[in-house]
Amino acid sequence: MSKKLFIETLGCAMNVRDSEHMIAELNAHEGYELTDDAASADLILINTCSVREKPVHKLFSELGVFNKLKKPSAKIGVCGCTASHLGKEIIKRAPYVNFVLGARNVSKIADVLHRDKAVEIEIDYDESQFAFKDFRSSPYKAYINISIGCDKQCTFCIVPKTRGDEISIPPDLIVAEARKAVENGAREVFLLGQNVNHYGRRLPNEKINFTELLRRVSAVEGLERIRFTSPHPLHMDDEFIEEFARNPKICKSMHMPLQSGSSEILKAMKRGYTKEWFLNRARKLREMVPDVSISTDIIVAFPGESDADFEETMDVLNQVRFEQLFSFKYSPRPLTEAEKMEEVDSEVGSMRLSRLQARHDEILDEMKATNLGKVVEVYFEELRDDGHVAGRSDNNLGIKVKGSEEWLGKIARVKITEVSRTVQYGEIIA
Ligand code: 5AD
Ligand code: SF4
Repeated sequence: MSKKLFIETLGCAMNVRDSEHMIAELNAHEGYELTDDAASADLILINTCSVREKPVHKLFSELGVFNKLKKPSAKIGVCGCTASHLGKEIIKRAPYVNFVLGARNVSKIADVLHRDKAVEIEIDYDESQFAFKDFRSSPYKAYINISIGCDKQCTFCIVPKTRGDEISIPPDLIVAEARKAVENGAREVFLLGQNVNHYGRRLPNEKINFTELLRRVSAVEGLERIRFTSPHPLHMDDEFIEEFARNPKICKSMHMPLQSGSSEILKAMKRGYTKEWFLNRARKLREMVPDVSISTDIIVAFPGESDADFEETMDVLNQVRFEQLFSFKYSPRPLTEAEKMEEVDSEVGSMRLSRLQARHDEILDEMKATNLGKVVEVYFEELRDDGHVAGRSDNNLGIKVKGSEEWLGKIARVKITEVSRTVQYGEIIA
């Protein structure tokens, strides 16, 4: 009988891809097969996130639960960003944990497994050219890493301390991954990096930026769609926006993490741009790509944020009218510059978050209504157990139609017949 692996993945798409890499390595070198039952697993992995405080607290209670329910012989490994951040502290607090593997050390999984109490968390470890074995949770959803780590120093963010300095994966390897994904049934690839449009950092032999990488990936035959996340507003130069607008394979959905609409707060966050620059880039995008959808991340109640600063954020929300908003109350993180800054009253933060989200809901209701009756092209990638297949329009609307697996991996024209804030229903038309 094969050994069983249970893996829980928290956090961002980068972690999802890291988990796929670990699953592939464990399968190829150690013969592990996936299970969704932790109690029967021989190895339990938690791939953690440390971007906010709450999930970190949750980790230790979860570890306790796994320790109780696991088979006596089963091992537990903690991987990912909290592994990088807390290191051996994790084994101190939860001595039954067998190993700790940092977010930048994923390639060592098959080795660390055999070293009890090993802690591998080097943040300058270079695995940019490591040939990971293949595994994808779905052949239709092809994440491809293009860079590792982050060179920015946003004062709220722990990520540069957990994933280290930015290194780029060589373009030839990225193109080869895209080709392989297409051969295995994907029509769309999703390029991943902490700061994708800063691509090209520390490439040993080549000078190439993200715009050029997009051109090369889009030359892959059989590939029809390219998505990417996350770009940084500071690096959204004209060349990049023009390529985004002109290249028919690039999906017309852009993530523009605003963080704050106040230029003062942006400065304190060390984001490198002003409110005006952000608005200017969003305007250019909307002018060049009229049906673009723009999503954003916003943090409210960053230290020093006054009512007037928050109104600036509301003003950007009202001007840009984001199609999707991910909003968070500031959470102080260790190892960051902002950790030592004086916090805004928690109640005030909660109120600001509610106001921001309520206003965004109003905007969404207004915008979504206009989608009714539209015809969009949908790439189907998921089968739902309610008799629907789900996919995304080019500009990132989540769409469900009645249908079966025959639609998976296909692109079809769909007329939208029902809209809500989060999902649209539609009918496939000839
Ligand atoms: N507190 C709250 N939100 C944060 N994010 C990053 N760090 C913090 C923090 N300390 C948010 C940012 C980022 C998203 C992934 O998480 O908005 O873009
Ligand atoms: Fe992803 Fe950031 Fe969370 Fe790490 S801390 S898993 S990079 S969101």
